[in-house]
Amino acid sequence: MQTASSSSDITSSLRESRNFKPPAEFVKRAHLKSMAQYRKLYAESIRNPDKFWGKAAAELEWMKPWTKVCDWKEPHAKWFVGGKTNMSVNCIDRHAHGWRRNKVALIWEGEPGDEPHISRARNIPYASLLRQTCQFANVLKQFGVKKGDRVIIYMPMIPEAVFAMLACTRIGAVHSIVFGGFSSEAIKDRILDCGAEVVITADGGYRRGAVIELKKNVDAALAHCPGVRHVLVVKRTEQPVHMVPGRDHWWHEVQQNASYECPPEPMNSEDPLFILYTSGSTGKPKGIYHTTAGFMLGCQMTTKYVFDAKEDDVYWCTADIGWVTGHSYSIYGALLNGLTTVLYEGAPNHPAPDRFWQIIDKFGVTIFYTAPTAIRAFIKWGEQHVLKHSLKTLRLLGSVGEPINPEAWIWYHKVVGKGRCPIVDTWWQTETGTIMISPLPGVTPTRPGTATLPFFGVDAAVVNKEGKEQPRNVGGLLVIRKPWPSMLRGIWGDPDRYRKQYWSEVKGCYFTGDGARRDKDGYFWIMGRIDDVVNVAGHRLGTMEVESALVGHKMVAEAAVVARPDDLKGQALVAFVTLKGGQVPSNDLKDQLRAHVGKEIGAHAKPDDVRFTDALPKTRSGKIMRRLLREVATGGEIRGDMTTLEDFSTLARLRHDEE
Ligand code: WTA
Repeated sequence: MQTASSSSDITSSLRESRNFKPPAEFVKRAHLKSMAQYRKLYAESIRNPDKFWGKAAAELEWMKPWTKVCDWKEPHAKWFVGGKTNMSVNCIDRHAHGWRRNKVALIWEGEPGDEPHISRARNIPYASLLRQTCQFANVLKQFGVKKGDRVIIYMPMIPEAVFAMLACTRIGAVHSIVFGGFSSEAIKDRILDCGAEVVITADGGYRRGAVIELKKNVDAALAHCPGVRHVLVVKRTEQPVHMVPGRDHWWHEVQQNASYECPPEPMNSEDPLFILYTSGSTGKPKGIYHTTAGFMLGCQMTTKYVFDAKEDDVYWCTADIGWVTGHSYSIYGALLNGLTTVLYEGAPNHPAPDRFWQIIDKFGVTIFYTAPTAIRAFIKWGEQHVLKHSLKTLRLLGSVGEPINPEAWIWYHKVVGKGRCPIVDTWWQTETGTIMISPLPGVTPTRPGTATLPFFGVDAAVVNKEGKEQPRNVGGLLVIRKPWPSMLRGIWGDPDRYRKQYWSEVKGCYFTGDGARRDKDGYFWIMGRIDDVVNVAGHRLGTMEVESALVGHKMVAEAAVVARPDDLKGQALVAFVTLKGGQVPSNDLKDQLRAHVGKEIGAHAKPDDVRFTDALPKTRSGKIMRRLLREVATGGEIRGDMTTLEDFSTLARLRHDEE
């Protein structure tokens, strides 16, 4: 792991001075309209967090009021102690029982543009979302799922995936969603780690016109998961699948006898809500878990203020529910605010590269939230695809997942936003649960490439290893110095790792793992991960995981995976591989290894480049010097300290092989 032992380890060469003020038209209608207003609220939220969050929490529906706002014993926070509430009630019932009952909650668009099934009708009003969720909850109960039980959801982006998530929250089960692009290995690891006994899946999902065989992947995983009692299967793609009698059930059959009414389980504020696995630098994915009330409040507040959410908005966050952005913003934040949220099943370039723009015009999307990797793909495909559509309903654009390079920002602003839509570049993590650093669109002048200022209650700072704040424009470690309601509560089953990973690097602070600097105005410029977790096409990956997958191949002796910058994906993976004795490098083997990683982890983790070498550069203590490999991979000059390098000829050969 590359630690930032001194601040100068992180140098930033990005300088950007173009300034974009919130447009006057936007400010007129915005919830928050001035920097003075933001500064006042921010100061209050830091000075007296209990008062600030206590007041904010009154916007939620409680079954029993809380008695204490925050109970903090580092590194463990409890928020809204003594309170009881329920996520599904806040997302659905309070709208479904009021005047929003016929307001559309979900607009769904299938990849083939179809609507074959009644429950997949395109527009789902709040009242019907309530019925469907309750029915799903009753089916879960029927199969013995109780409060606290973990349920794996491995589904395409179809309305049933949303019913399934919300049904879990209704009865107090803890959902753990596994991204539909993950392989059976990844499903298996997650089932075993969280001890799930029930899996919800579909026969398949559509991706770029092809069918992803989800049920088949589940079957392969379950060969190693004897603890799973039941699998609920939603029919989507209709290809034949194998159903194990007694274990596997078609959703449309078991739903027949389930009632549309299901009383919500009163949940303690701190009862777990979901587990989401994310990459760590040590190889094994971490089960980040969030609890009920604090997470809910974070989603509700940030959606309202960062997206300036209004009753008449049609909101579209393009993230898959398998990632945290899909949890907090495609679903929870939107529904908590009673918004209409768009859910699209498929790829942005199917059947043509203008699919997203077509969807925006078709449904009149007003707020559009996507990732820099997608924006770079749009740029590559050409602006003519965007220009075919008017996009006149858009009023706000968002970005998340990795630093957005200024070129992409400007393109997004001009070509998509027509110069009239503010852009909110939102920095946050699976661990933080909700947006932490972001412009407020009616308030903050933006600059391409910076996430600007912290959200309310977020005491973010750039420090050195000793926890001392860095001077302006000097890079350092990004930390959060106070607990916040939507923070992770731990790593499932591994409290030591939680403490070690997040609360030991810098004393008294939550360590984000990111490097950053602040400019003269206090704006935060995120410089990416300081360890070996990389971000490929918006997917955060531990290079260690890819390495272990490669080493799992029978011909591979050793592997080191590093990232090099990639115009399209942000970062691309380069694998340096040494083969076992007697094995011969070939292009065919490269393809095999890439396919192997795809099978073990998922297609998004496949290295773009595989390079065979007969040795890897190592330190004397046997650690692979990834820093050197990174420099080889980017074709850059090898700089810095090499005194620990064991064998110089290795490096010379690696560089030679490049030519
Ligand atoms: C990176 C995604 C720069 C960062 C919500 C972080 C960003 C990691 C931004 C979390 C941004 C996310 N600017 N970097 N606006 N947003 N990141 O857990 O390195 O998938 O630590 O959560 O993505 O990735 P995760």
